[in-house]
Amino acid sequence: MSANDFMAPFSLDIDLAEGIMRNPTNHIVRRASDMRGYYADEAALDRLIEENGDPVHYEVFERPVPLDQGQLMFCISKLYPGRVGDEYFFTKGHYHEVLETAEIYLALCGRGYMLMKTPDDSLCVAETMARGRMVYVPPCWAHRSVNTGDDPLISFCVYPGEAGHNYGDIESQGFPKRVYFRDGKEQIV
Ligand code: F6R
Ligand code: ZN
Repeated sequence: MSANDFMAPFSLDIDLAEGIMRNPTNHIVRRASDMRGYYADEAALDRLIEENGDPVHYEVFERPVPLDQGQLMFCISKLYPGRVGDEYFFTKGHYHEVLETAEIYLALCGRGYMLMKTPDDSLCVAETMARGRMVYVPPCWAHRSVNTGDDPLISFCVYPGEAGHNYGDIESQGFPKRVYFRDGKEQIV
């Protein structure tokens, strides 16, 4: 191997208080209208879009690395607080395209849940997320963040470079559980 074959190391800054990645290469913005078909109460989502001018639902900040085995992809995920009807805001959720790849989420700000399920729906688990709490998403589990707090739920995520994303299965099947604010409290149903 010559010096030209080595990828250059790099570093970047993350504002741990604000949960913001400085100078991201990719900034993915998902608005309320991108979430059509995901929430239980579609009419409530339409009202939210109409009355609030299609607000930003969540953002992802990335500094991508080559999508190769051995690399580690990482990002900041920032999910805004709110509800669609009585259902707390969540991310679309996905499996990894290479199903047998895991992911680590470290919550930096806010609170909520990481909702995870297996492909046959036999298991569906909600781990709590709060500042300083880490969630390990094992290989093969679909995952979705849910914000039950009043502030953005911000996480630092790390996963294998080759993982990729499969959104289609969750878009069509959803998760067996949803998180609501009902009778004055959080309920996972
Ligand atoms: C990456 C990952 C997170 C999510 C982010 C947004 O594998 O799990 O970075 O991409 O929380 O959620 P989705 O991708 O479900 O829209
Ligand atoms: Zn993932």
